[in-house]
Amino acid sequence: MSTNGSNTADPIRPFPPGFLWGTATASYQIEGATTLDGRGPSIWDTFCRQPGAVFNADNGDVACDHYHRYLEDLDLLVELGVGAYRFSVAWPRVQPEGSGPANQKGLDFYRRLVAGLRERDIEPMLTLYHWDLPQPLEDRGGWCERDTSERFADYVEIVARAMGSDVERWITLNEPWCSSWLGYGAGVHAPGVKDIGRAAAATHHLLLAHGKAVPILRSVAPEAKVGITLNLTVHQPGSDHPMDVAAALRADGNLNRLFLEPVFHAKYPKDMLEHYRSVKPGFSVVAEGDLELISAPLDFLGVNYYNPVTVVDEQRAAEARVASYVVSTHNPFPDLHLRSLETPGRDKTAMDWEIQAAGLTELLLKIRDEYTTAPIYITENGAAFDDYVDPNGQVLDHNRIAYLQEHISAVHDAIDAGVNVQGYFVWSLLDNFEWAYGYSRRFGIVWVDFPTGERLAKESFRWYAETITSNSVEYATSVGSS
Ligand code: FCB
Repeated sequence: MSTNGSNTADPIRPFPPGFLWGTATASYQIEGATTLDGRGPSIWDTFCRQPGAVFNADNGDVACDHYHRYLEDLDLLVELGVGAYRFSVAWPRVQPEGSGPANQKGLDFYRRLVAGLRERDIEPMLTLYHWDLPQPLEDRGGWCERDTSERFADYVEIVARAMGSDVERWITLNEPWCSSWLGYGAGVHAPGVKDIGRAAAATHHLLLAHGKAVPILRSVAPEAKVGITLNLTVHQPGSDHPMDVAAALRADGNLNRLFLEPVFHAKYPKDMLEHYRSVKPGFSVVAEGDLELISAPLDFLGVNYYNPVTVVDEQRAAEARVASYVVSTHNPFPDLHLRSLETPGRDKTAMDWEIQAAGLTELLLKIRDEYTTAPIYITENGAAFDDYVDPNGQVLDHNRIAYLQEHISAVHDAIDAGVNVQGYFVWSLLDNFEWAYGYSRRFGIVWVDFPTGERLAKESFRWYAETITSNSVEYATSVGSS
Protein backbone atom coordinates (compact mmCIF):
# COMPACT_ATOMS: atom_id res chain seq x y z
CA MET A 1 0.00 0.00 0.00
CA SER A 2 1.18 3.46 -0.81
CA THR A 3 1.83 5.76 2.10
CA ASN A 4 2.45 8.90 0.14
CA GLY A 5 -0.28 9.03 -2.44
CA SER A 6 2.13 7.97 -5.15
CA ASN A 7 -0.21 5.37 -6.59
CA THR A 8 -0.85 7.57 -9.58
CA ALA A 9 -0.91 4.53 -11.87
CA ASP A 10 -4.57 4.15 -11.01
CA PRO A 11 -5.91 7.67 -10.57
CA ILE A 12 -9.30 6.46 -9.30
CA ARG A 13 -8.96 5.79 -5.62
CA PRO A 14 -11.76 3.81 -4.00
CA PHE A 15 -12.73 4.36 -0.37
CA PRO A 16 -13.44 1.42 1.93
CA PRO A 17 -16.98 0.05 1.70
CA GLY A 18 -19.24 1.77 4.22
CA PHE A 19 -17.17 4.96 4.28
CA LEU A 20 -19.57 7.61 5.60
CA TRP A 21 -20.03 10.58 3.28
CA GLY A 22 -21.83 13.57 4.67
CA THR A 23 -22.22 17.26 4.92
CA ALA A 24 -22.40 19.55 7.94
CA THR A 25 -24.23 22.63 9.21
CA ALA A 26 -24.78 24.35 12.56
CA SER A 27 -27.94 25.67 14.18
CA TYR A 28 -27.19 29.38 14.48
CA GLN A 29 -25.69 29.53 11.01
CA ILE A 30 -28.75 28.21 9.17
CA GLU A 31 -31.93 28.04 11.25
CA GLY A 32 -33.17 31.61 11.69
CA ALA A 33 -36.46 31.73 13.65
CA THR A 34 -34.53 32.94 16.66
CA THR A 35 -37.61 34.01 18.62
CA LEU A 36 -40.02 31.32 17.50
CA ASP A 37 -41.58 28.49 19.48
CA GLY A 38 -40.04 29.57 22.74
CA ARG A 39 -36.37 29.78 21.71
CA GLY A 40 -34.41 31.99 24.10
CA PRO A 41 -31.59 34.34 23.15
CA SER A 42 -28.09 33.00 22.63
CA ILE A 43 -24.74 34.73 23.00
CA TRP A 44 -24.61 35.05 19.21
CA ASP A 45 -27.92 36.96 19.10
CA THR A 46 -26.42 39.37 21.59
CA PHE A 47 -22.98 39.57 19.98
CA CYS A 48 -24.45 40.32 16.53
CA ARG A 49 -26.02 43.43 18.02
CA GLN A 50 -22.76 44.83 19.32
CA PRO A 51 -21.68 47.58 16.93
CA GLY A 52 -18.77 46.47 14.79
CA ALA A 53 -18.78 42.88 16.03
CA VAL A 54 -20.06 41.22 12.86
CA PHE A 55 -19.43 42.24 9.27
CA ASN A 56 -22.24 44.40 7.91
CA ALA A 57 -24.04 44.06 11.26
CA ASP A 58 -25.42 40.75 9.95
CA ASN A 59 -27.15 38.34 12.31
CA GLY A 60 -28.78 34.90 12.39
CA ASP A 61 -32.39 36.12 12.73
CA VAL A 62 -33.35 34.62 9.39
CA ALA A 63 -30.13 33.00 8.11
CA CYS A 64 -31.11 30.24 5.65
CA ASP A 65 -34.55 29.99 7.24
CA HIS A 66 -33.84 26.29 7.64
CA TYR A 67 -36.30 26.18 10.54
CA HIS A 68 -39.08 26.59 7.99
CA ARG A 69 -37.37 25.11 4.96
CA TYR A 70 -35.87 21.98 6.48
CA LEU A 71 -37.95 19.70 4.27
CA GLU A 72 -36.47 21.34 1.21
CA ASP A 73 -33.03 20.86 2.72
CA LEU A 74 -33.78 17.19 3.34
CA ASP A 75 -34.63 16.90 -0.36
CA LEU A 76 -31.25 18.37 -1.18
CA LEU A 77 -29.55 15.81 1.03
CA VAL A 78 -31.39 13.02 -0.78
CA GLU A 79 -30.32 14.45 -4.13
CA LEU A 80 -26.76 14.65 -2.89
CA GLY A 81 -26.88 11.03 -1.80
CA VAL A 82 -25.15 11.46 1.56
CA GLY A 83 -25.10 8.67 4.10
CA ALA A 84 -25.10 11.12 7.01
CA TYR A 85 -25.95 14.70 7.90
CA ARG A 86 -24.21 16.52 10.72
CA PHE A 87 -26.27 19.26 12.36
CA SER A 88 -26.30 20.92 15.76
CA VAL A 89 -29.01 21.42 18.34
CA ALA A 90 -29.48 24.97 19.62
CA TRP A 91 -29.34 24.80 23.39
CA PRO A 92 -31.56 27.94 23.74
CA ARG A 93 -34.31 26.20 21.77
CA VAL A 94 -34.27 23.32 24.21
CA GLN A 95 -33.70 25.32 27.39
CA PRO A 96 -34.43 28.98 26.72
CA GLU A 97 -33.00 29.94 30.12
CA GLY A 98 -30.06 27.56 29.90
CA SER A 99 -31.53 25.60 32.80
CA GLY A 100 -34.87 24.24 33.90
CA PRO A 101 -37.46 22.22 32.05
CA ALA A 102 -37.29 21.39 28.38
CA ASN A 103 -39.09 23.49 25.82
CA GLN A 104 -40.97 20.75 23.98
CA LYS A 105 -41.56 22.87 20.89
CA GLY A 106 -37.84 23.35 20.49
CA LEU A 107 -37.18 19.65 20.87
CA ASP A 108 -39.99 18.91 18.42
CA PHE A 109 -38.14 20.70 15.66
CA TYR A 110 -35.16 18.37 16.05
CA ARG A 111 -37.42 15.35 16.43
CA ARG A 112 -38.99 16.22 13.09
CA LEU A 113 -35.57 16.73 11.52
CA VAL A 114 -34.21 13.43 12.85
CA ALA A 115 -37.34 11.55 11.81
CA GLY A 116 -37.10 13.13 8.36
CA LEU A 117 -33.50 12.00 8.03
CA ARG A 118 -34.31 8.47 9.17
CA GLU A 119 -37.22 8.21 6.72
CA ARG A 120 -34.77 9.11 3.97
CA ASP A 121 -32.14 6.66 5.18
CA ILE A 122 -29.72 9.39 6.15
CA GLU A 123 -27.91 9.00 9.42
CA PRO A 124 -28.23 11.99 11.76
CA MET A 125 -24.96 13.01 13.40
CA LEU A 126 -25.88 15.34 16.24
CA THR A 127 -23.64 18.04 17.67
CA LEU A 128 -24.83 19.19 21.07
CA TYR A 129 -22.96 22.48 21.18
CA HIS A 130 -21.94 24.54 18.20
CA TRP A 131 -21.39 27.85 20.02
CA ASP A 132 -24.92 29.12 20.74
CA LEU A 133 -24.81 29.33 24.53
CA PRO A 134 -28.06 30.55 26.14
CA GLN A 135 -27.54 34.22 27.03
CA PRO A 136 -28.81 33.82 30.63
CA LEU A 137 -25.84 31.51 31.28
CA GLU A 138 -23.42 34.05 29.85
CA ASP A 139 -24.98 36.63 32.16
CA ARG A 140 -23.79 34.42 35.00
CA GLY A 141 -20.25 34.16 33.63
CA GLY A 142 -20.68 31.71 30.75
CA TRP A 143 -17.90 29.22 30.15
CA CYS A 144 -15.66 30.99 32.64
CA GLU A 145 -17.86 29.46 35.35
CA ARG A 146 -17.75 25.83 36.37
CA ASP A 147 -21.52 25.85 36.82
CA THR A 148 -22.00 26.12 33.04
CA SER A 149 -20.58 22.62 32.63
CA GLU A 150 -23.19 21.38 35.12
CA ARG A 151 -25.92 23.13 33.15
CA PHE A 152 -24.58 21.54 29.97
CA ALA A 153 -24.85 18.11 31.56
CA ASP A 154 -28.55 18.73 32.32
CA TYR A 155 -29.16 19.93 28.79
CA VAL A 156 -27.43 16.86 27.33
CA GLU A 157 -29.62 14.60 29.41
CA ILE A 158 -32.75 16.28 28.04
CA VAL A 159 -31.62 15.90 24.43
CA ALA A 160 -30.43 12.34 24.97
CA ARG A 161 -33.78 11.35 26.51
CA ALA A 162 -35.62 12.93 23.61
CA MET A 163 -33.53 11.49 20.78
CA GLY A 164 -31.23 8.85 22.23
CA SER A 165 -32.83 5.99 20.39
CA ASP A 166 -32.87 7.74 17.01
CA VAL A 167 -29.40 9.19 16.85
CA GLU A 168 -26.38 6.92 16.80
CA ARG A 169 -23.47 9.36 16.62
CA TRP A 170 -23.23 12.22 19.11
CA ILE A 171 -20.69 15.02 19.20
CA THR A 172 -20.52 16.82 22.52
CA LEU A 173 -18.74 20.02 21.46
CA ASN A 174 -17.76 21.60 18.19
CA GLU A 175 -14.33 23.25 18.26
CA PRO A 176 -14.04 24.23 21.93
CA TRP A 177 -10.90 26.20 20.98
CA CYS A 178 -13.09 28.67 19.07
CA SER A 179 -15.57 28.98 21.94
CA SER A 180 -12.82 29.69 24.44
CA TRP A 181 -9.99 31.44 22.58
CA LEU A 182 -11.97 33.34 19.94
CA GLY A 183 -14.90 33.98 22.30
CA TYR A 184 -13.12 34.87 25.57
CA GLY A 185 -9.53 35.48 24.43
CA ALA A 186 -9.47 37.35 21.11
CA GLY A 187 -13.04 38.62 21.52
CA VAL A 188 -13.85 38.13 17.84
CA HIS A 189 -16.58 35.59 18.53
CA ALA A 190 -19.41 35.72 21.04
CA PRO A 191 -19.40 36.73 23.83
CA GLY A 192 -16.64 39.11 22.69
CA VAL A 193 -14.43 39.00 25.78
CA LYS A 194 -10.69 39.76 25.52
CA ASP A 195 -9.07 38.10 28.49
CA ILE A 196 -6.55 35.28 28.20
CA GLY A 197 -7.10 34.16 31.78
CA ARG A 198 -10.80 33.71 31.18
CA ALA A 199 -10.14 31.98 27.87
CA ALA A 200 -7.99 29.43 29.66
CA ALA A 201 -10.69 28.87 32.29
CA ALA A 202 -13.28 28.54 29.52
CA THR A 203 -11.12 25.89 27.85
CA HIS A 204 -11.25 23.81 30.99
CA HIS A 205 -14.95 24.29 31.66
CA LEU A 206 -15.81 23.38 28.08
CA LEU A 207 -13.73 20.22 28.30
CA LEU A 208 -15.32 19.48 31.66
CA ALA A 209 -18.75 19.90 30.07
CA HIS A 210 -17.67 17.36 27.47
CA GLY A 211 -16.41 15.05 30.22
CA LYS A 212 -19.70 15.26 32.11
CA ALA A 213 -21.73 14.68 28.96
CA VAL A 214 -20.06 11.39 28.01
CA PRO A 215 -21.34 9.19 30.89
CA ILE A 216 -24.79 10.75 30.60
CA LEU A 217 -24.98 9.84 26.93
CA ARG A 218 -23.72 6.35 27.70
CA SER A 219 -26.34 5.73 30.36
CA VAL A 220 -29.33 7.39 28.68
CA ALA A 221 -28.51 6.16 25.17
CA PRO A 222 -26.45 2.99 25.56
CA GLU A 223 -26.22 2.50 21.81
CA ALA A 224 -24.80 5.98 21.26
CA LYS A 225 -21.37 6.45 19.76
CA VAL A 226 -19.86 9.49 21.42
CA GLY A 227 -17.12 11.83 20.25
CA ILE A 228 -15.87 15.39 20.29
CA THR A 229 -14.98 17.59 17.33
CA LEU A 230 -11.75 19.58 17.51
CA ASN A 231 -10.37 22.10 15.06
CA LEU A 232 -6.81 20.99 14.54
CA THR A 233 -4.01 21.80 12.19
CA VAL A 234 -0.30 21.42 11.60
CA HIS A 235 1.94 24.34 12.51
CA GLN A 236 4.98 24.64 10.34
CA PRO A 237 7.88 26.78 11.55
CA GLY A 238 8.83 29.40 8.98
CA SER A 239 12.47 28.30 9.26
CA ASP A 240 14.52 25.83 11.25
CA HIS A 241 15.74 28.61 13.53
CA PRO A 242 15.15 27.42 17.11
CA MET A 243 13.03 30.50 17.87
CA ASP A 244 10.70 29.72 14.99
CA VAL A 245 10.54 26.07 15.96
CA ALA A 246 9.62 27.16 19.49
CA ALA A 247 6.99 29.55 18.12
CA ALA A 248 5.40 26.70 16.13
CA LEU A 249 5.36 24.60 19.29
CA ARG A 250 3.55 27.37 21.19
CA ALA A 251 0.94 27.67 18.43
CA ASP A 252 0.52 23.90 18.43
CA GLY A 253 0.23 23.94 22.23
CA ASN A 254 -2.55 26.50 22.23
CA LEU A 255 -4.64 25.10 19.38
CA ASN A 256 -4.00 21.36 19.38
CA ARG A 257 -2.34 20.07 22.52
CA LEU A 258 -4.47 22.05 25.01
CA PHE A 259 -7.38 19.92 23.79
CA LEU A 260 -5.86 16.66 22.59
CA GLU A 261 -3.74 16.06 25.68
CA PRO A 262 -6.54 16.28 28.27
CA VAL A 263 -8.98 14.30 26.12
CA PHE A 264 -6.58 11.49 25.24
CA HIS A 265 -3.83 11.66 27.88
CA ALA A 266 -5.70 13.04 30.93
CA LYS A 267 -3.36 16.01 31.36
CA TYR A 268 -2.75 19.52 30.16
CA PRO A 269 0.56 20.06 28.35
CA LYS A 270 3.28 21.17 30.77
CA ASP A 271 4.61 23.94 28.55
CA MET A 272 1.12 25.44 28.24
CA LEU A 273 0.43 25.25 31.98
CA GLU A 274 3.71 27.06 32.44
CA HIS A 275 2.85 29.59 29.74
CA TYR A 276 -0.51 30.44 31.33
CA ARG A 277 0.75 30.15 34.92
CA SER A 278 0.26 33.79 35.85
CA VAL A 279 -3.07 34.49 34.15
CA LYS A 280 -6.22 34.58 36.25
CA PRO A 281 -8.18 32.43 36.77
CA GLY A 282 -6.52 30.35 34.03
CA PHE A 283 -6.02 26.70 34.77
CA SER A 284 -6.34 27.25 38.51
CA VAL A 285 -9.96 26.22 37.96
CA VAL A 286 -8.93 22.59 37.35
CA ALA A 287 -10.19 20.46 40.24
CA GLU A 288 -9.37 16.95 41.32
CA GLY A 289 -11.08 14.32 39.20
CA ASP A 290 -11.79 16.67 36.30
CA LEU A 291 -9.17 15.22 34.00
CA GLU A 292 -10.40 11.74 34.69
CA LEU A 293 -13.83 12.76 33.43
CA ILE A 294 -12.41 14.64 30.44
CA SER A 295 -10.35 11.66 29.32
CA ALA A 296 -13.13 9.05 29.38
CA PRO A 297 -12.72 6.81 26.32
CA LEU A 298 -14.49 8.00 23.18
CA ASP A 299 -15.91 6.10 20.24
CA PHE A 300 -14.53 8.51 17.68
CA LEU A 301 -12.77 11.80 17.17
CA GLY A 302 -14.21 14.50 14.90
CA VAL A 303 -11.52 16.48 13.08
CA ASN A 304 -12.20 19.82 11.41
CA TYR A 305 -9.41 20.84 9.07
CA TYR A 306 -9.24 23.84 6.77
CA ASN A 307 -5.66 25.03 6.41
CA PRO A 308 -2.14 24.65 7.75
CA VAL A 309 -0.38 27.51 9.52
CA THR A 310 3.23 28.65 9.16
CA VAL A 311 4.58 30.73 12.02
CA VAL A 312 7.71 32.55 13.12
CA ASP A 313 8.69 34.09 16.40
CA GLU A 314 7.62 37.73 16.34
CA GLN A 315 11.17 38.90 16.84
CA ARG A 316 12.17 37.12 13.66
CA ALA A 317 9.24 38.40 11.62
CA ALA A 318 11.43 41.04 9.92
CA GLU A 319 13.81 38.38 8.64
CA ALA A 320 10.92 36.33 7.33
CA ARG A 321 9.78 39.36 5.39
CA VAL A 322 13.17 39.50 3.74
CA ALA A 323 12.76 35.86 2.79
CA SER A 324 9.72 37.04 0.77
CA TYR A 325 7.04 35.61 2.98
CA VAL A 326 4.08 37.86 3.71
CA VAL A 327 4.00 38.32 7.45
CA SER A 328 0.68 39.03 9.10
CA THR A 329 0.80 42.11 11.27
CA HIS A 330 -2.04 40.84 13.35
CA ASN A 331 -1.75 38.35 16.18
CA PRO A 332 -4.90 37.99 18.27
CA PHE A 333 -2.89 36.40 21.09
CA PRO A 334 0.02 38.73 21.88
CA ASP A 335 1.21 36.46 24.68
CA LEU A 336 2.19 33.80 22.14
CA HIS A 337 4.72 36.16 20.51
CA LEU A 338 4.36 34.85 17.01
CA ARG A 339 3.36 35.91 13.56
CA SER A 340 1.81 33.80 10.86
CA LEU A 341 3.31 33.72 7.40
CA GLU A 342 1.83 33.41 3.99
CA THR A 343 3.83 31.00 1.90
CA PRO A 344 4.77 32.62 -1.42
CA GLY A 345 2.79 31.18 -4.31
CA ARG A 346 0.35 29.17 -2.28
CA ASP A 347 -3.32 29.52 -3.27
CA LYS A 348 -5.81 30.89 -0.74
CA THR A 349 -9.55 30.77 -0.18
CA ALA A 350 -11.81 33.79 0.28
CA MET A 351 -11.08 33.51 4.02
CA ASP A 352 -7.42 34.14 3.16
CA TRP A 353 -6.69 30.63 4.37
CA GLU A 354 -3.88 28.87 2.54
CA ILE A 355 -4.74 25.75 0.65
CA GLN A 356 -2.58 22.77 1.45
CA ALA A 357 -4.26 19.40 1.56
CA ALA A 358 -1.07 17.55 2.52
CA GLY A 359 -1.42 19.20 5.93
CA LEU A 360 -4.54 17.12 6.51
CA THR A 361 -2.71 13.86 5.85
CA GLU A 362 0.13 14.94 8.12
CA LEU A 363 -2.33 15.89 10.85
CA LEU A 364 -4.17 12.57 10.66
CA LEU A 365 -0.92 10.62 10.92
CA LYS A 366 0.11 12.67 13.91
CA ILE A 367 -3.20 12.07 15.67
CA ARG A 368 -2.91 8.35 15.06
CA ASP A 369 0.72 8.23 16.23
CA GLU A 370 0.38 10.47 19.28
CA TYR A 371 -3.22 10.40 20.46
CA THR A 372 -5.73 7.81 19.34
CA THR A 373 -6.47 4.97 17.02
CA ALA A 374 -10.21 5.43 17.53
CA PRO A 375 -12.19 6.01 14.34
CA ILE A 376 -11.84 9.50 12.95
CA TYR A 377 -14.49 11.45 11.08
CA ILE A 378 -13.51 14.55 9.18
CA THR A 379 -16.50 16.42 10.55
CA GLU A 380 -15.72 19.60 8.59
CA ASN A 381 -13.64 20.47 5.58
CA GLY A 382 -14.45 22.93 2.84
CA ALA A 383 -13.75 26.35 1.45
CA ALA A 384 -15.24 29.79 0.89
CA PHE A 385 -14.79 31.32 -2.53
CA ASP A 386 -16.26 34.36 -4.23
CA ASP A 387 -19.06 32.44 -5.90
CA TYR A 388 -21.61 34.04 -8.15
CA VAL A 389 -24.62 32.94 -10.17
CA ASP A 390 -23.63 33.27 -13.82
CA PRO A 391 -25.93 34.47 -16.60
CA ASN A 392 -26.94 30.85 -17.25
CA GLY A 393 -28.14 30.56 -13.68
CA GLN A 394 -25.26 28.32 -12.60
CA VAL A 395 -22.60 28.52 -9.93
CA LEU A 396 -19.51 27.00 -11.53
CA ASP A 397 -17.32 26.75 -8.45
CA HIS A 398 -14.42 24.81 -9.92
CA ASN A 399 -12.06 26.15 -7.27
CA ARG A 400 -14.19 24.51 -4.57
CA ILE A 401 -14.25 21.25 -6.51
CA ALA A 402 -10.44 21.35 -6.71
CA TYR A 403 -10.22 22.05 -2.98
CA LEU A 404 -12.54 19.18 -2.08
CA GLN A 405 -10.85 16.78 -4.46
CA GLU A 406 -7.40 17.52 -3.05
CA HIS A 407 -8.58 17.17 0.53
CA ILE A 408 -10.55 13.99 -0.07
CA SER A 409 -7.44 12.66 -1.79
CA ALA A 410 -5.44 13.65 1.29
CA VAL A 411 -7.87 11.67 3.44
CA HIS A 412 -7.31 8.73 1.12
CA ASP A 413 -3.56 9.08 1.60
CA ALA A 414 -4.10 8.85 5.35
CA ILE A 415 -6.28 5.76 5.00
CA ASP A 416 -3.61 4.19 2.77
CA ALA A 417 -1.13 4.85 5.55
CA GLY A 418 -3.36 2.99 8.00
CA VAL A 419 -5.24 5.83 9.70
CA ASN A 420 -8.72 4.79 10.74
CA VAL A 421 -10.74 7.51 8.97
CA GLN A 422 -14.35 6.38 8.62
CA GLY A 423 -16.12 9.36 7.16
CA TYR A 424 -15.88 12.81 5.62
CA PHE A 425 -18.30 15.74 5.93
CA VAL A 426 -18.18 18.76 3.65
CA TRP A 427 -18.59 22.13 5.32
CA SER A 428 -21.18 23.14 4.34
CA LEU A 429 -24.43 22.03 2.77
CA LEU A 430 -25.60 25.63 2.47
CA ASP A 431 -24.09 29.08 2.21
CA ASN A 432 -24.78 30.43 5.67
CA PHE A 433 -24.03 32.89 8.45
CA GLU A 434 -20.24 32.70 8.72
CA TRP A 435 -19.93 34.09 12.26
CA ALA A 436 -17.97 37.37 12.40
CA TYR A 437 -17.94 37.46 8.58
CA GLY A 438 -21.72 37.51 8.43
CA TYR A 439 -23.04 36.47 5.03
CA SER A 440 -19.95 37.68 3.19
CA ARG A 441 -18.30 34.27 2.97
CA ARG A 442 -19.94 31.41 1.10
CA PHE A 443 -18.92 27.88 2.13
CA GLY A 444 -21.94 26.04 0.71
CA ILE A 445 -22.14 23.46 -2.02
CA VAL A 446 -25.63 24.93 -2.33
CA TRP A 447 -25.98 28.64 -3.11
CA VAL A 448 -28.48 30.49 -0.93
CA ASP A 449 -30.07 33.69 -2.16
CA PHE A 450 -30.42 35.30 1.25
CA PRO A 451 -33.14 37.85 0.42
CA THR A 452 -35.49 35.11 -0.81
CA GLY A 453 -34.05 32.00 0.83
CA GLU A 454 -33.95 30.20 -2.50
CA ARG A 455 -31.46 27.37 -2.88
CA LEU A 456 -29.44 26.51 -5.98
CA ALA A 457 -27.10 23.53 -6.18
CA LYS A 458 -23.59 24.60 -7.20
CA GLU A 459 -21.35 22.63 -9.54
CA SER A 460 -19.49 21.29 -6.48
CA PHE A 461 -22.77 19.75 -5.26
CA ARG A 462 -22.95 17.68 -8.45
CA TRP A 463 -19.29 16.78 -8.22
CA TYR A 464 -19.70 15.67 -4.60
CA ALA A 465 -22.81 13.64 -5.47
CA GLU A 466 -20.75 11.74 -8.07
CA THR A 467 -17.94 11.22 -5.59
CA ILE A 468 -20.41 9.73 -3.12
CA THR A 469 -22.00 7.47 -5.72
CA SER A 470 -18.65 6.16 -6.90
CA ASN A 471 -17.24 6.00 -3.33
CA SER A 472 -13.96 7.08 -4.81
CA VAL A 473 -11.92 10.13 -5.70
CA GLU A 474 -9.68 10.88 -8.59
CA TYR A 475 -6.15 11.30 -7.36
CA ALA A 476 -5.20 14.93 -6.89
CA THR A 477 -1.88 16.33 -5.85
CA SER A 478 -2.08 18.88 -3.11
CA VAL A 479 -1.82 22.32 -4.65
CA GLY A 480 0.74 24.50 -2.99
CA SER A 481 2.26 21.59 -1.10
CA SER A 482 5.74 22.75 -1.99
C1 FCB B 1 -15.50 26.18 11.64
C2 FCB B 1 -16.87 26.20 12.27
C3 FCB B 1 -18.00 26.24 11.30
C4 FCB B 1 -17.70 27.12 10.11
C5 FCB B 1 -16.35 26.78 9.53
C6 FCB B 1 -15.98 27.59 8.31
O1 FCB B 1 -14.58 26.73 12.52
O2 FCB B 1 -17.05 25.06 13.08
O3 FCB B 1 -19.15 26.64 11.98
O4 FCB B 1 -17.80 28.44 10.45
O5 FCB B 1 -15.36 26.93 10.48
